[in-house]
Amino acid sequence: MSDNDTQQLPEHEVKAPIIETLGISKVFKVGDKMVSPVSDVTLQVGYGDFAVIFGQSGSGKSTLMSMLMGLSKPDVGEVFLKGESLFGFSEEQRTMIRRKKVSYLPQAQYWIDGMGLIDNVALPLYLLGWSRSKARKKAITLIKEVGLEKEIHQHPNELSSGQQQKAALARALVKDPWVIFADEPTAHLDTKSVEEVTKILMDTSAAHGITIVMVTHDLNFLKLSKKWFFMQDGRLWDIEDRRNPFTNIRDAISYVESEENKDKV
Ligand SMILES: Nc1ncnc2c1ncn2[C@@H]1O[C@H](COP(=O)(O)OP(=O)(O)OP(=O)(O)O)[C@@H](O)[C@H]1O
Ligand SMILES: [Mg+2]
Repeated sequence: MSDNDTQQLPEHEVKAPIIETLGISKVFKVGDKMVSPVSDVTLQVGYGDFAVIFGQSGSGKSTLMSMLMGLSKPDVGEVFLKGESLFGFSEEQRTMIRRKKVSYLPQAQYWIDGMGLIDNVALPLYLLGWSRSKARKKAITLIKEVGLEKEIHQHPNELSSGQQQKAALARALVKDPWVIFADEPTAHLDTKSVEEVTKILMDTSAAHGITIVMVTHDLNFLKLSKKWFFMQDGRLWDIEDRRNPFTNIRDAISYVESEENKDKV
């Protein structure tokens, strides 16, 4: 494939939302039954949004995210990135789009043993062919931005879980992505680190104009985001959408809380 593949997607903001889906569904065969963890989901995420997809365990959040990232093709419907059909591109082209312009922030981090913090953060730039000195310079700027200046010469595995998530955020930001997809990035952290990491995630993304799509079942994130979706049994409800089954955020939260308490009994 040519080096120009991401140029097929406009660098500037277009009128369409940055991410849009039209009626996407995923269907799996389990034994002799068909299951649909994501069913007829239509959503729009605008440029620079901090969008939270919230829902109970098993409601289909990660399955939806893998389709939004172009990793898994919907069985029905389409995903658009900057107005272009993501699955209209070849698999190689989608890989290149992700490598250049999409970052993923998971729950737990994987670090390369033989590399220190700076090189681990610079890794996405090495994969894009940047020179070592240029990549390290950029990585150092971001490590400072996320507040790890004092730890800069350590190995990421020596850092606390909260610091590792900050390092992971620096690595997610280093290539100036259009979007960061985060799947429960604070699930393993204590309350104080959750607050710190979330604030840095929100502030740095806003400063760099990056769109965030974050999956969580932590209710605390709802108050931080103006754009949120609620997922329930594979269906997605845009909370601003009047067709959703809840008239307000409180109803949705108390529904989820009562379901979670049921699980505990
Ligand atoms: N490849 C697959 N084959 C069969 N079923 C699947 C497959 N992938 C996901 N599922 C099912 O789809 C449902 C939704 O899974 P998913 O991982 O998307 O949920 P989730 O909302 O991310 O949950 P959690 O909060 O626990 O991470 C689950 O019941 C899961 O077992
Ligand atoms: Mg999940």
